[in-house]
Amino acid sequence: MSKLIVGNLKMNLLTIAERDRYLESFERELKNFPENKAKIILCPPFVHLEKFSEKFKMENVSIGAQNIFWEERGSFTGEISSLMVKNIGCKYVILGHSERRKYFSESGEIINAKIKAALQDNLTPIVCIGESQAERNDGDTAEIIVAQINQSLKDVPISKITEVVFAYEPVWAVGSDAIPTGNDILEVRITIKKTLVEKYGASAAEKVRILYGGSVNSKNVAQVCVEPQMDGVLVGRESLIPNEFLKIVEIINAIRNNE
Ligand code: PGA
Repeated sequence: MSKLIVGNLKMNLLTIAERDRYLESFERELKNFPENKAKIILCPPFVHLEKFSEKFKMENVSIGAQNIFWEERGSFTGEISSLMVKNIGCKYVILGHSERRKYFSESGEIINAKIKAALQDNLTPIVCIGESQAERNDGDTAEIIVAQINQSLKDVPISKITEVVFAYEPVWAVGSDAIPTGNDILEVRITIKKTLVEKYGASAAEKVRILYGGSVNSKNVAQVCVEPQMDGVLVGRESLIPNEFLKIVEIINAIRNNE
């Protein structure tokens, strides 16, 4: 199973010039890159999706959206549907991100509706789950993770589960410089797998990828991805710097070659 390295560019690249500089730099770095076995998924803001998908046609670079609406079409001013991003070249969509839960009050129910919309249109949802600092302090991490998985997967059939990707993103690690220990991440990985085994059985659960996200950089990727045997990473800030982002890819590639 190839590793996934997701770049969440968030609300950045404000001008066309800035976007083009980013794309040029990314392409240049990618040309010098040794053989890449991992899968890179770049998730720019909606307005840049078309340009990004035109630019990256190679097999191991895909494009993802940062959000979608749960309805497919109609009178929903300002919203963008899964079919719209799919038709523009997206294969993935980030859903349930803690910033959306926090600033846009996205509930488990809303996230579940969006996941089902994505799956219906064959868009792979990258579903972010994770506990807050207070929940971790109270020893509630596992409980929160299980509850978020159950909410996210309500009415998601077994035929679709292997298309879902989870990203464990502790809320307190996103946009900070704090990261959990490798052991803490491994514990959550086990909790996620166990929950999936109970819901869908071992052979389906085995095929679901689980990424880590939250303050990932090239210096800590061994601790947050290699050590806890994660299936890749979701990178925020560092994905804005192509050569730093590709350093992370390089380290993950090196593990794969050693597997
Ligand atoms: P960060 O963001 O790497 O800047 O912490 C991660 C994320 O939002 O997924």
